[in-house]
Amino acid sequence: MKSYYITTPIYYVNDVPHIGHAYTTLACDVLARFKRLDGFDVFFLTGTDEHGQKVEKSAIAAGMSPKEFTDKVSANFRALGATMGYSNDDFIRTTEDRHIRSSQAIWQAMAARKTPLGRDNIYLGKYDGWYAVRDEAYYDESELVTGPDGKKRAPSGAEVEWVEEPSYFFRLSDWGDWLLAFYKSNPDAVGPATRLNEVRSFVEQGLHDLSISRTTFGWGVKVPGDEKHVMYVWLDALTNYITAAGYPDVEGEKFRRFWPADLHMVGKDIVRFHTVYWPAFLAAAGIATPKRVFAHGWWTNEGQKISKSLGNVIDPVKLVEKYGLDPVRYFLLREVSFGQDGDFSNSAMVRRMNTDLANDLGNLAQRVLSFVAKNAGGEVPQHGALADADRALLGAAGDLLVTIRAELDQQAFHKALEATFAVVAEANRYVDAQAPWTLRKTDPARMATVLYVLMETIRLIGFALQPFMPTTIGRLLDLLAVGADARSFSHWDWALKPGTKLPAPSGLFPRFVEDAPAAKG
Ligand code: MSP
Repeated sequence: MKSYYITTPIYYVNDVPHIGHAYTTLACDVLARFKRLDGFDVFFLTGTDEHGQKVEKSAIAAGMSPKEFTDKVSANFRALGATMGYSNDDFIRTTEDRHIRSSQAIWQAMAARKTPLGRDNIYLGKYDGWYAVRDEAYYDESELVTGPDGKKRAPSGAEVEWVEEPSYFFRLSDWGDWLLAFYKSNPDAVGPATRLNEVRSFVEQGLHDLSISRTTFGWGVKVPGDEKHVMYVWLDALTNYITAAGYPDVEGEKFRRFWPADLHMVGKDIVRFHTVYWPAFLAAAGIATPKRVFAHGWWTNEGQKISKSLGNVIDPVKLVEKYGLDPVRYFLLREVSFGQDGDFSNSAMVRRMNTDLANDLGNLAQRVLSFVAKNAGGEVPQHGALADADRALLGAAGDLLVTIRAELDQQAFHKALEATFAVVAEANRYVDAQAPWTLRKTDPARMATVLYVLMETIRLIGFALQPFMPTTIGRLLDLLAVGADARSFSHWDWALKPGTKLPAPSGLFPRFVEDAPAAKG
């Protein structure tokens, strides 16, 4: 069986989970479910990033030790998984022993090897420069901007502080040409293409060596052989992807099966870490590089940047309570071209629910299934010879698998959904054109064929939508009496058996009606 290893970023453990976090992992969940249905042995990883100065500061503010604090708040991200219906195979915490061992091992592997120019990858020096705790990132003076308060800030808006301390460095400056050659020979390694261009021009401008240890605080993985230093949190964090695959046991079954990862899904803000530092660290340690990193855009809320200070953070729990899980999953991946920025608004959400889900898909299933219950004895109808219109609709539905497979391999979730809903629209037009309610009186045999074609089409639409809306589509397939063991894509061409008894139909996608505002007075 072919393997597929997909990862989300690991989330800063002290953050309160919001829609942005939910989004990255949702995209991975849909791909993981798709690949499982498509016959892959999938390993889907998410988890929490628990070291570093930011977490240490939050622990102190909460009056707890960093260990107590991270044990407590890491649960918030596990809970997000339950809220959003994720199907991850592992949940890694960077404070686990397996990860500390792995981070120290990659450090030692880098230290033992030379750069492409024959020099040591790691050397001891002194860092003096700017650091943003919120981003856990170093910045050059030239990158800084002046905030409205006149203070220097990182381009992300995070406050920066001047740091002077002994530090180990990674000789990133020796890896520039290697990285440019790597992008050239692996054009799929970074997506979308605009991000690849940005990264390439960043590297072309010349790379500085990277500070990879800190001494002024203690909450991190200790540098092997020099315990006054803790590793730079991003080196430790990125290493989670190989830890979960069993590193340093590179001969182990798991590592051989799943590494290099097929896809690291990330937000656009952390592209540089994943496409410059990470491949360089891996190459320096003699480890294969991931096949692809894809960066999605950012969500705003009703047109405004989402931030804790603005108080407009969208809580996934509230969203799911209000609209239901599957509509939220559908909306997030349908509304915005994956890779672009997007805006969450109540009106857009309700429009998608009432148009695509209730009117188009829900109504198609509802009218066909209740008609079958009333007029075809509540069982899969017996079909006769197929007419051209029947073959055209079944053909369009049948082609969906090839289309969505190709779109999802490019992380074009919106296009996969667009293609599927084009078939929903075609099926609705077919119902109107064939008018089974008229055939009931004039030609019952033809009516049975039309209903059969529609049910088969709905089955295929359901197959395509399973990864996106697993619960509701599971119910749809129940209503079609498709057994739980007949829902993988190896059953794509399998067809409904005439005469199979069907359960009583029920609605799947209710219209969303906003609560009437309370009467005043
Ligand atoms: N801990 C690092 C990642 C380490 S990976 C080795 C981190 N964590 S984070 O919690 O700040 O962000 C995790 C993900 O959430 C990122 O991919 C980021 O892009 C995404 N989002 C955070 N806010 C977002 C929006 N408003 N919209 C969309 N995604 C955003 O970075």
